Amino acid sequence: MKTTTFSSVLLMLSTAAFAQRGGGPPLTSLKTVPVPAVPGIEQYVRDQAALVVLGKALFWDMQAGSDGRTACASCHFHAGADHRVQNQLAPPQTSTAGITPNRTLTAADFPFHQPGNLDAPRSVAGSAGTFQRSFFDVVPGAAEEDGADLFSSRFSLNGRQTRQVTSRNTPSVINAVFNVRNFWDGRASNIFEGSALAWRDGHLVTEQVRLENSSLASQAVGPVLNEIEMSYTGRSFAKVAEKLLTLRPLGRQAVSAGDSVLGAYADASGVGLAPEYSYRRLIETAFEPAYWAAPEGGQMAANFSLFWGLAIQAYETTLISNDSRLDQFLEGNTQALSALEQQGMREFLGGRSQCTQCHQGAEFTAASFRNIGRPGFFRTGVTPIEDDPGLENGAFKSPGLRNVEFTGPYFHDGGQATLEQVMDFYARNGDFRAGGNLGPGIGQIRLNQQDRTAIVAFMKALTDDRVRFQRAPFDHPSLCISTGHEEPAAGVLAADTTDGRFASSAIDRWALIPAVGKDGAVAPLQTFDELLRGIGNDGSRAHNLTQPCVP
Ligand code: HEC
Ligand code: HEC
Repeated sequence: MKTTTFSSVLLMLSTAAFAQRGGGPPLTSLKTVPVPAVPGIEQYVRDQAALVVLGKALFWDMQAGSDGRTACASCHFHAGADHRVQNQLAPPQTSTAGITPNRTLTAADFPFHQPGNLDAPRSVAGSAGTFQRSFFDVVPGAAEEDGADLFSSRFSLNGRQTRQVTSRNTPSVINAVFNVRNFWDGRASNIFEGSALAWRDGHLVTEQVRLENSSLASQAVGPVLNEIEMSYTGRSFAKVAEKLLTLRPLGRQAVSAGDSVLGAYADASGVGLAPEYSYRRLIETAFEPAYWAAPEGGQMAANFSLFWGLAIQAYETTLISNDSRLDQFLEGNTQALSALEQQGMREFLGGRSQCTQCHQGAEFTAASFRNIGRPGFFRTGVTPIEDDPGLENGAFKSPGLRNVEFTGPYFHDGGQATLEQVMDFYARNGDFRAGGNLGPGIGQIRLNQQDRTAIVAFMKALTDDRVRFQRAPFDHPSLCISTGHEEPAAGVLAADTTDGRFASSAIDRWALIPAVGKDGAVAPLQTFDELLRGIGNDGSRAHNLTQPCVP
């Protein structure tokens, strides 16, 4: 639609749906969008609530990583994403270039690319995962697995190994259930496929699993065995099962008695789940006996990736932020948006910004399951195609923009620290335009300074306060996250002498993400830019990473 005047915005409120350029569903409250159901899941699942309990425990459990300290949440702890600033650099996806491990990013590093400086060495702000190590075996009763250091030339400094870093920036898991396909390049298929061992009429039979609307399950089984993210090289799902089935869920983490999902299961000590809620028990409660009750034994471990995928998907499906001030506005509360934010909304929907060519509907992305069959992947010229082709020819998933205030740094390369920088990028119609097709509207964007300010204000109105204050369903157990390594002198990393097998690994620094219950925290989340600038370290922001932690 054309640039809308204020009065016509108000008139359209009665329908509370804004048609937009690029087609696709109109802009409505996210509460009007159905959550995609998974046809046929009842074959496997008998208790959906128990499935969410299991999924939340697995997602936050640091014991799942080979080092006993890396959970899914280690990179998705902050509005579903990651805003750490130290040891977060990696070479681009297809590049063998070097980076300086353990560096602390500063505000001056951003944006990574600027007109006139596009030849500068390129790197990506990703997320620190695990050390590069070979897997020997799990140790019954221990969260840390047996292994040995491997030598990574990319992630080491003067002979000392650092944690490896992903070559793409971490997107948020909040609202990811609406994506047809997940990951920046869409490689997590909406069809979750695999095989399962079923106990039928006294026999164990192999069945094919094929579930639709399950991109999150396809996604979730990836990082567990990924040797940069969570795993030593050579681990299997059966080994993950063998370990976790001997451990108390969240055994090293605080769980609030007020946690919206886990509170009723929390141990009275405040740490972990109570002994009666083992992973075995949670699986038995959630899943049909045909998938775990065979008398032979070993069936539960054999089906662990099925349990893992479906449980984490069920938990992530609860992470929907549909009560932002924009949602309230679209539901008829005309006071919910300021005049500037409403102006930003008109610019966002209007012809000069082109935003809704790719960020459509309540989900703010054309990659929504409601757009099935329509591509939601576009090239906007963030990096050269040869650094990372994405889906193909430099096209990446158009991300949803809800809570975007907290999910910096931005883009698949994490190269922009602030929304203002993102708007400058769009106003100059991208950075790397050579070599192939650009997405619709790129080249035609015309935004003056005032427009950019208004659109930034509008994007900040897409925050759900439950995310800002970590209230249910966004409450969670505590977590120790690695925030780089001890570096007593520049370029010299201290060695971890406590364990001979890992003698070439650098010592971690750990920061606490405190547990919160359903009522959340008093302080709002810190933005990436605030962390870069040390704003909120006095406790006026949550997740300021100043509190030490012992994993
Ligand atoms: C070391 C950091 C790290 C860990 C640990 C990690 N992730 Fe991620 N996650 C990422 C990065 C980086 C991406 C983007 C990768 C890509 O697109 O190629 C991502 C992407 C995702 C996405 C896709 C979101 C989207 O919009 O495309 C989901 C969902 C997700 N992760 C969930 C999980 C789950 C579940 C686990 C645990 C099983 C996990 N992550 C573990 C870093 C991590
Ligand atoms: C041609 C399609 C297209 C248009 C037009 C477009 N975007 Fe995007 N947007 C994308 C894609 C694709 C990405 C991810 C690009 C990447 O990382 O390489 C993205 C990323 C973003 C991000 C970063 C989100 C994150 O989590 O990293 C923001 C913010 C954003 N867009 C806002 C806007 C605004 C505001 C407009 C209008 C001025 C706009 N976009 C126009 C496709 C588009």
